[in-house]
Amino acid sequence: MTIAPPIGLLAELTHRCPLQCAYCSNPLNLDRRGAEMTTAEWKSVFTQANDLGVLQLHLSGGEPTARSDLEDIVEHCAKLGLYTNLITSGVLLNEERVRRLFDVGLDHVQLSLQDVDPLNADAIGGLKGGHAKKLALGLQVVKLGMPLTVNAVIHRHNIDSIESMVQLALDMGARRVEIAHVQYYGWALKNRNHLMPTRTQAVEADTLVRHLRNELKGKIVIDSVIPDYFARVPKPCMGGWGSRVINVTPSGKVLPCHAAETIPGLEFWSAKDYPLAEIWNKSPAFNAYRGLDWMEEPCVACDKKTSCKGGCRCQALALAGKATAADPVCELSPFHEGLEELATAASTAPLQPRRISENVH
Ligand code: FES
Repeated sequence: MTIAPPIGLLAELTHRCPLQCAYCSNPLNLDRRGAEMTTAEWKSVFTQANDLGVLQLHLSGGEPTARSDLEDIVEHCAKLGLYTNLITSGVLLNEERVRRLFDVGLDHVQLSLQDVDPLNADAIGGLKGGHAKKLALGLQVVKLGMPLTVNAVIHRHNIDSIESMVQLALDMGARRVEIAHVQYYGWALKNRNHLMPTRTQAVEADTLVRHLRNELKGKIVIDSVIPDYFARVPKPCMGGWGSRVINVTPSGKVLPCHAAETIPGLEFWSAKDYPLAEIWNKSPAFNAYRGLDWMEEPCVACDKKTSCKGGCRCQALALAGKATAADPVCELSPFHEGLEELATAASTAPLQPRRISENVH
């Protein structure tokens, strides 16, 4: 099989984060600060990524701005000609640092928002004053002329704010807003019953987004997909396993997706031990579910398999107990009917905020 080069690389520069979001999709076991790759190691990864054909670099975390060498890293990537996208909560950035990042060549900022109501937003993120900092950052990014995407993370407790979140993004001068329904991986899976919207909420939200998309055409781009548990056709997660994106953890482990370590038995190689191109082309983890040969029924006989690529391997494992099963989002999966029940279960157990500072700093 000829393996085309990846388009994007998602760099989890650190797992440190000052927020405590209950929907955090990072893994349960986080990399500690002492295990993070050095500036030189990250630069080498990005140089290799550029040589491999990667075009877009997503600088993520945790909170990537917790790394004091971020400017150095951005400058290196900009010189290579990589398109740099900073995925941030914005709460650690001040005006001076944003200006510096812009000056060294940062191309794009993707800013997460918890809600429009400051009290609710701060309660969801677990940081008093966080919302106000986000708004200030968004305005500054736009003032500097950098394109801004607002990432509105949606769940049961803020789904009724979609319209005002889109309006806020528009007021900030964002060019794009992502209605990002929570993905139930990592820590978020622990809080699924608290966060999952009801079917009625999900359907109403979908109708509203379609309406807003028409109404605001030419003013702002609105991206959204129906939340997984209420869909009937799975999304081709990561554009297909090992086909478009590389994910690198803070300690240098190279993964086909951010949740891949939940799949037992996969062998992941580290960027500290192997060249990136070799990992992409030859590592066992990247080849485990590449293409269509790993599929089982009902996928094998399905004519949609080339477009959905079997959906999400991590979700198949979490919900059907087997990574090679069809993603239960697919209505042909024997587990599909149980999804509705999972989605509507409301837990009486307390919401579990993620206190990252307790275990990675
Ligand atoms: Fe791992 Fe979808 S998150 S394949």
